[in-house]
Amino acid sequence: MGNCWSRGNPSIYGVSLFWKNIYRVSSNAKSESPEVQSPVKEEGRDGSKLPSNPKEVKESDRDTAANPLIAFTFNELKIITGNFRKDHVLGGGGFGNVYKGFITEDLREDLQPLQVAVKVHDGDNSVQGHREWLAEVTFLGQLSHPNLVKLIGYCCEDEHRMLIYEFMARGSVEDNLFSRVLLPLPWSIRMKIAFAAAKGLAFLHEAEKPVILRDFKTANILLDQEYNAKLSDFGLAKDGPVGDNSHVSTRVMGTFGYAAPEYVMTGHLTAMSDVYSYGVVLLELLTGKKSLDKSRPARQETLADWAFPLLNQKKKVLSIVDPKLNRDYPVKAVQKVAMLAYHCLNRNPKARPLMRDIVNYLEPLQVPIETPNIGNN
Ligand SMILES: Nc1ncnc2c1ncn2[C@@H]1O[C@H](COP(=O)(O)OP(=O)(O)O)[C@@H](O)[C@H]1O
Ligand SMILES: [Mg+2]
Repeated sequence: MGNCWSRGNPSIYGVSLFWKNIYRVSSNAKSESPEVQSPVKEEGRDGSKLPSNPKEVKESDRDTAANPLIAFTFNELKIITGNFRKDHVLGGGGFGNVYKGFITEDLREDLQPLQVAVKVHDGDNSVQGHREWLAEVTFLGQLSHPNLVKLIGYCCEDEHRMLIYEFMARGSVEDNLFSRVLLPLPWSIRMKIAFAAAKGLAFLHEAEKPVILRDFKTANILLDQEYNAKLSDFGLAKDGPVGDNSHVSTRVMGTFGYAAPEYVMTGHLTAMSDVYSYGVVLLELLTGKKSLDKSRPARQETLADWAFPLLNQKKKVLSIVDPKLNRDYPVKAVQKVAMLAYHCLNRNPKARPLMRDIVNYLEPLQVPIETPNIGNN
């Protein structure tokens, strides 16, 4: 979960046991009290009411042809995850854990054997937990792209809310980039990740109904065995502005260190908020440093603030490149990527590049992957 806002304790979300990690401000009130409501029906992507019970979820899914989802029972998920075994935990989620699981041949006639990841959104049926679960079902059910994690199905039984995804063998970019045990990611793989993630975001921003991911960060980029990167965690995703509107107004949610300053200040969300977060991820790939680290000297705590003035200086920028790369990188490409991050982190959102431009910029910087077995696990 990292240093997430508003995505923590399911029972008393907002005022949270994770209080030191979570921060929540609304666009109109500083300390918003938790909305104590049962799962509410909200406006769906097509303006209809969002489903709030199993029958409605199933019915709404029929229209979402891009990725028809499978409804699982709680019992099936118990079998798939070995009764939610502790040693099957892949990651800690804001509303529960993510477990590794396996769909076996004998589970159901209509399913093929498959390795999966099961995200639990359980707890006590909190509004925010249900909302985020529903956001993932709605967005990932309607969208399909090689750089978005595939949602296979869901469980919506009694108070249980779960999501079943394709299994991503190498876990998150965060796990890989900051691991003390895995070999450092070489420059070529970092560029492959940056390119793939940019394509995922460009797809979202250019969709017929544009989507803003709102929580783009290294923990939400997953890697398969070949380091193909896919965006995950659509719990905070939002429909982009439509018509003449320049932005959508939202409660400020996201992750410290990644969120765009104008969004934090005003709650005005645009696709450019994702572009800022993308700039922060580029910086993490470039420097091997975390977006926010309270153990660093005060001036360096927030990576984007500290690194920004160095990014357009060709010589100085080389001093902040990840030492784990052992100077094994093309200097010109590093300088170009630093300049790209510099533009993404512009305080003025309108001056930031579009994700499509970023994809085009990164394409020629792709290099063959020399060591495909690196960090093999
Ligand atoms: N499909 C998957 N395959 C492998 N690991 C996953 C998968 N989905 C999530 N994880 C792991 O679980 C972590 C949390 O998942 P995420 O979807 O980001 O949940 P949350 O909404 O709680 O942040 C990820 O950072 C990753 O380490
Ligand atoms: Mg996440």
